[in-house]
Amino acid sequence: MIFSRNTFKNNGVRHKKISTFYKKNAGSGLINFLMIIRPEKKKDYKAIQEINELAFGGRAEVVLIEALRKSDSFIPELCLVAVQKGEVIGHILFSPIVIKSKERVVSALALAPMAVHPKFQNKGVGSKLVYQGLEDCQRLGHKIIVVIGHPEYYPRFGFLPARAKGLDVAFPVPDEAFMVLELVPGSLDVTQGEIIYPPAFQEAS
Ligand SMILES: CC(C)(COP(=O)(O)OP(=O)(O)OC[C@H]1O[C@@H](n2cnc3c(N)ncnc32)[C@H](O)[C@@H]1OP(=O)(O)O)[C@@H](O)C(=O)NCCC(=O)NCCS
Repeated sequence: MIFSRNTFKNNGVRHKKISTFYKKNAGSGLINFLMIIRPEKKKDYKAIQEINELAFGGRAEVVLIEALRKSDSFIPELCLVAVQKGEVIGHILFSPIVIKSKERVVSALALAPMAVHPKFQNKGVGSKLVYQGLEDCQRLGHKIIVVIGHPEYYPRFGFLPARAKGLDVAFPVPDEAFMVLELVPGSLDVTQGEIIYPPAFQEAS
């Protein structure tokens, strides 16, 4: 096991095992009670497309998701949907990346993209997707997760500024939007360098 039951220390906060932590913190109320998180199925594709178009107001993320699904960089277990009463209301995807330095190349994951249907935002759906996703990443043995996203959102899950941890990317990203989470504390002590995204990210941009 990567985390023991209560030993994940990150961002100055002592977390319990991720599953325990998210159950306590990822929103509350009927929507969470009725919602399940599971890997996407083909029958979900249309709903996932609609959610991403509505949430982002464009098609760039849909193009990225479709490119990733067709590529070697697709991990079906890490492409999750939130389902409430049979309706897909949120989606999250983790893809393999590498961290390249002069000495070594280390595998990691990128969280991208994620979206919640606008009707269901701010009800804990996104948080539940992130925590379940992180738990699944952990279960599959992944150690480092990178995200480029809202600096007000991801720190609540333990993400920290990535450049301060010795990471960089080859394109311009504000420091505060480029974040990383060590699922295994200390992983970045020996792993620093440039993040390389799979080709699907370039094709879709
Ligand atoms: C960002 C997003 C995935 C969050 O999902 P969600 O289900 O709405 O979020 P939760 O209910 O778990 O969390 C709500 C919290 O997130 C914050 N939040 C929601 N959207 C945010 C945004 N765009 N930027 C910063 N914080 C945001 C809310 O203010 C709220 O904060 P609080 O708990 O301090 O009150 C969702 O709002 C969304 O799909 N946005 C449009 C697409 C997008 O921006 N995707 C992420 C790209 S990095």
